[in-house]
Amino acid sequence: MANIGYIALLLALVAAIYSAIAFIFGARGRHPGVRDSARNGLLAVSGLVSISVAILVYALVTHDFRIEYVASYSSHDTSLLYLLSALWAGNAGSLLLWAWLLSLFATVVVLQKRDVGKELVPYASAIIMATEAFFLILLLFISNPFHKLAFTPADGIGLNPMLENPGMVFHPPVVLAGYVGFTIPFAFAIAALLTRRLGDDWIIAIRRWILLAWLLLGVGNIIGAWWAYVELGWGGYWAWDPVENAGLMPWLVATAFLHSIMMQRRRGMLKVWNMVLIILTFSLAIFGTFLTRSGILSSVHTFSESGLGPFFLVFIGITLLGSFGLLYYRSDELESEAEMESLVSRESTFLLNNLLFVGAAFTILLGTIFPVISEAVRGVKISVGAPFFNQVNGPIFLAVILLTGVCALIGWRRASIKNLLRSFLWPLVGTVILGTGLFLMGVREWYALVAFLVSGFVLFTILYQWLREIRARHRVKADNYLKAFWGLLQANQPRYGGYLVHIGILLIAIGIIGSSFYDVEKEAVLAPGESMTIKNYTLTYENMDRYETQSKLVVSATLSVHNEGKLKGKLVPEKYFHRNHEQPVTEVAIRTTPIEDLYVILVGWDEDGTASFKVLVNPLVIWIWIGGGVLVLGGLIAFWPDRQKRPVSGQARTRRG
Ligand code: HEM
Ligand code: HEM
Repeated sequence: MANIGYIALLLALVAAIYSAIAFIFGARGRHPGVRDSARNGLLAVSGLVSISVAILVYALVTHDFRIEYVASYSSHDTSLLYLLSALWAGNAGSLLLWAWLLSLFATVVVLQKRDVGKELVPYASAIIMATEAFFLILLLFISNPFHKLAFTPADGIGLNPMLENPGMVFHPPVVLAGYVGFTIPFAFAIAALLTRRLGDDWIIAIRRWILLAWLLLGVGNIIGAWWAYVELGWGGYWAWDPVENAGLMPWLVATAFLHSIMMQRRRGMLKVWNMVLIILTFSLAIFGTFLTRSGILSSVHTFSESGLGPFFLVFIGITLLGSFGLLYYRSDELESEAEMESLVSRESTFLLNNLLFVGAAFTILLGTIFPVISEAVRGVKISVGAPFFNQVNGPIFLAVILLTGVCALIGWRRASIKNLLRSFLWPLVGTVILGTGLFLMGVREWYALVAFLVSGFVLFTILYQWLREIRARHRVKADNYLKAFWGLLQANQPRYGGYLVHIGILLIAIGIIGSSFYDVEKEAVLAPGESMTIKNYTLTYENMDRYETQSKLVVSATLSVHNEGKLKGKLVPEKYFHRNHEQPVTEVAIRTTPIEDLYVILVGWDEDGTASFKVLVNPLVIWIWIGGGVLVLGGLIAFWPDRQKRPVSGQARTRRG
């Protein structure tokens, strides 16, 4: 079976190379026969890689430990759900998933019915197939998921116990799908450069693809943050770990791109910049895949050194040189059709928003690769640590948030100050009331206060703007408010999807500010019956329990929780000792409310029954997950197919004069 999986990958490589070449020849020579066969080649790639995936999944489920990958990431104890998830637990499996998802996305690209950008499809497909060929080469010659051992072990090593969490089912495939998704807009951008079709067609053709990839990577990162919070047992959700940064950087640049393509469609501006952004987004996604596999930086989830690094560097080098060279060659044809008319305009806020997003990505990149730079220059690896990232990015993200509010109220071209003041008045009143309330509640740290007020102001601004739009529709159409709300949403999904995404970001910001500035931490060693207090909570250690399951020994401590004298329930933090793995796994116990999380970690214990605990009170964390949910909803609404045909291309533009 393993041989069939490998041969399928080999045939897929041949088909991908053939298809990439045939697409270019077919399009240039206008030979429909060649183009059809290129398309069939692409579909064959998809089928063949699907066969490989099916074979690896079958090997995992049937415990074929002769295959090294199966023996390394699964065992007889692994449950079905995690046997399936083992497909992306290791280097070779997750690269196979990359190649598979890309082949599926490519299939959708060639089968999709489209009114705009048809001429770009053959060239874009050729770029996608070239990328596919790169991943297939890695799978075939460097990181073979079907590599066989010389003997068949009785049992496999099994999944790292830390990965046995629902996060494992969703987080890796979703982040990887986001990474992979960026290939499609990148391929269309290069196709536009190659064919000199540099109008808006490529942007119209890829808007939903970029939204999808952006959404997947964003959700994947949020699930990762949630997983880190509930599983890693250090009390936080973001450690500025290199792989976390690798997930954030392309997301930030993609967010800039999502906005700057609006500038091109509306005003014919930023054409070169849009190309730069999508080239960077794709390169950062590949760079992220490289970072995890290069072994150059240590992270909670990097794979050991795999020999893949140089291949990725060459691929990234070719991508950057080729794309920027082509862009330079075509730059004369990408001139802006309009100029900035006023500093107080949506264009200027968009420009600033773009600079901030790219600036944030750049500083994160610098901080991430600093150990490598310092080793090259001074011979020692120096990591910059979380304070650097927080100090640099805190103000940048705060400025982004402020802009989100300002932008919603400013029209394209030139805004009237009188209009602006009218729009800001009520949100400002709301912010003053919020500020007074927070001050009275004891929020005195000026940075936190400013951050809360900026977020509050922007939230009020968006809600107020939305309300005004609903009221206007209610007046014009005589609909009731609910119907007016629904009607607006249906009439302009991208706009209101965008509003919701912005609200989601604000909720996330509120959660981050609360938990970063006002978290409280305490450690205590308690004998059974003893209590500790933290903020308004009293925790009483009741007893310790030990029991064995089929695969592990569990040690669990039970604590009763009182808040201001009232019993609120019990918390049971645990430690797992898996038979096949040395490292124990911490299972934290969390009590969540809209105000704060009580987070308890069982650190250690003695034979006499005393146990040591680390307890944190993390304010407002739940709003990060709720914000994530709102962001997904908004993203889906913006992504949803538009039932009304909007004017496309240059017709939608607000031209000068
Ligand atoms: C804020 C938190 C996190 C972020 C932003 C994040 C980001 C990422 C990214 C970008 C990848 C794709 C890497 C690649 O394959 O090239 C990835 C994969 C993965 N992540 Fe995370 N992650 C987070 C937390 C976690 C946690 C807490 C765990 C487990 C304890 C975890 C387990 C995995 C696994 C198993 C993979 C698939 C294997 C791999 O591709 O590395 N992640 N994550
Ligand atoms: C982290 C911060 C931000 C995120 C994640 C975000 C995300 C999004 C998304 C996904 C959309 C929908 C795009 C589409 O449908 O094609 C959108 C729309 C929009 N965004 Fe943002 N955005 C952020 C910050 C900003 C900032 C700083 C500004 C202003 C400079 C801004 C202005 C807009 C505008 C004007 C729209 C279109 C809504 C409309 O049609 O009126 N956004 N945003």
